[in-house]
Amino acid sequence: MREIILNTPGDFAEWRDAARTLLAAEVPPEDIVWRQAGESASLFSDTAPLVPKRAITLPRALVTTLDRVVCHRDANVPTRLYTIAWRALTDRRLLERRTDDDVDWLAKADKSIRRDLHKMHAFVRFRRLGEDETGRESFAAWFEPEHRILRLGAPFFRKRFYGMDWAILTPDARAIWQNETLSFGPGGTRDEVPDSDVVEDQWRMYYGSIFNPARVKIAAMRAEMPKKYWHNLPEAQDIAPLLAGAGARVERMRETAVQLANPRSDKWRVRGEPEAVMPGETATIEGLARGLQACTRCPIHCNATQAVAGEGKADARIMLVGEQPGNREDLEGRPFVGPAGQLLNEALDEAGLDRAQLYVTNAVKHFKFEPRGKRRLHQNPTAGEIDICRWWLDQERDLVKPDIIVSLGGSALRGLTGKSASISSMRGKPITLAGGERLVATVHPSFLLRLPDRQRAAVERAAFVADLAVARSLAKAISA
Ligand code: URA
Repeated sequence: MREIILNTPGDFAEWRDAARTLLAAEVPPEDIVWRQAGESASLFSDTAPLVPKRAITLPRALVTTLDRVVCHRDANVPTRLYTIAWRALTDRRLLERRTDDDVDWLAKADKSIRRDLHKMHAFVRFRRLGEDETGRESFAAWFEPEHRILRLGAPFFRKRFYGMDWAILTPDARAIWQNETLSFGPGGTRDEVPDSDVVEDQWRMYYGSIFNPARVKIAAMRAEMPKKYWHNLPEAQDIAPLLAGAGARVERMRETAVQLANPRSDKWRVRGEPEAVMPGETATIEGLARGLQACTRCPIHCNATQAVAGEGKADARIMLVGEQPGNREDLEGRPFVGPAGQLLNEALDEAGLDRAQLYVTNAVKHFKFEPRGKRRLHQNPTAGEIDICRWWLDQERDLVKPDIIVSLGGSALRGLTGKSASISSMRGKPITLAGGERLVATVHPSFLLRLPDRQRAAVERAAFVADLAVARSLAKAISA
């Protein structure tokens, strides 16, 4: 009988190294006892050196699954995983045998781990600890996962909150992201993390604002946000009062919806012959804005009420670029003044950015929409329309000369780079544009407003704020 001591439960590398040696020496599962550090060992275990007899190759999909499932809290996990690996050496199609007991157990355990990871991504709530002398902020969160998933869950937060220092403490282990390095340490206790702070109040305010009383489905809500997580969620204490007031809010929403119908919706404007752009109008931001009203470079101008020029500080260090004006912006003639603008303003505040110090504009300057009854439904601009409107954006870049440009969504990314790239491929990796500006790519605030899943919306919103904070840090570093 072989005895194998595992010092760190849930550590895949430790289990894998031991399992590889045992498999290569053809030690069958029934001849092995897996123990945790501290458990008393048998006096009669076999300690003779293991001699490799065969090469070990396992299907990649199986190795990936083993890597996750080793985090399961079932005390028999090391034995179970070894048995499966042992069988897979001679049965390459083992994972396809869904009715097999081992395979069935593995699938269920894996599902439980994935679910736990999903909950971790959604329910970790950071509390602010302070900031260092360079202004870099640090945060800590307490989380109690069902399984030992911190190692698997931490990279998600590294990507999302790259620009700040943070620690996630769990009873088993802690993950620390500091100086752009992720490390792991011993478990912690809840009282190592402050009880509440400004970020917590913002979470509560945010939850209150995205809570849609007309869509409340209590059973689904409980399934998504199980009660066991509530004591660590600042917003959970507001659920009962929000639900209690839901009926009255639905009524108010109905009334407001009627008032929100666009007053000019039945008077689509069709423009006559375009006026010419006056020479010299592109020499200043104000002149550019005047010249923009004469733009007929693409057909979108025909139906829009007016062109919406960028606005803000003429020599801003940070420029924000959205997609195109929405309904409200088209009527008021200013960028980001509607619902997406409201979310943007809140996120800028949270990231420590003052909108008055920025320059805010769009990749496309006219509102593109489809009339539907009394409403005007937003339509995405085509790549061609974005490319045509790029002429204006380039003029704005030349005049403002920002150090940092934040692209909000895919259309902005195209307007700035001339290429269609996915936001996820650019996120967290600022690049230098041809004009020398550093580009921070993030999502469009409307994307956050459209997310039906409240938890996902909360996580994505926090990531959005973190991206804006990265822009702030970069600008600070450049001006230092
Ligand atoms: N969405 C945008 O991209 N820009 C605005 O100005 C408003 C909404």
